Amino acid sequence: MSLLVVSGSLNPDSNSRVLAREAHRVLTGAGHVATFLDLRDLPLPPCDGATAYSHPQVAKARALLAPAAGILVATPIYNYDASAAVKNLVELTGRGAWENKVVGFACASGGAASYMSIMALANSLMLDFRCTVVPRFVYSVETDFKAELITNPDVARRTAELATTLARYVAALKA
Ligand SMILES: Cc1cc2nc3c(=O)[nH]c(=O)nc-3n(C[C@H](O)[C@H](O)[C@H](O)COP(=O)(O)O)c2cc1C
Repeated sequence: MSLLVVSGSLNPDSNSRVLAREAHRVLTGAGHVATFLDLRDLPLPPCDGATAYSHPQVAKARALLAPAAGILVATPIYNYDASAAVKNLVELTGRGAWENKVVGFACASGGAASYMSIMALANSLMLDFRCTVVPRFVYSVETDFKAELITNPDVARRTAELATTLARYVAALKA
């Protein structure tokens, strides 16, 4: 079973990237095959619903997403939503990359009030692409991190739990 961890922040100093790295470390430490896609390393064109689909970088994104049965998306919360970079990835890669996958979310935010922000993307993945969304997500705030480390043990615990639950769901759905 192949898993993919997506880091969806374009900020060089990103907390959601810290969550993504930790989730990836947990998965590989548990013996899972997990690829890491940092959207900072794969600049994508903005989705225009037309020519952007044939951009070579989009083909690379699709090739990384396609084999993954489970995708853990670590995203900043921007304007009460996932980052535009993450939404753009979904828009560019679409059904072929996401349909029937297990998806988990780890969010980095500025404050506690935006804790339901991931639901718009979660709903669209469930309704459009029949994704199975892990019904437990990581929601973190800026004070949960220091110097590229998770300093809140509960956030670290939840990140590990999200990663292992994602893998468990993928295995269960394959059985
Ligand atoms: C354009 C922009 C919009 C933001 N909107 C929100 C928001 O709606 N709710 C919130 O809690 N934090 C918001 N924030 C704060 C970010 O979620 C926070 O800085 C987080 O650490 C970003 O993730 P990253 O560190 O992985 O890039 C916003 C930040 C930016 C730059």
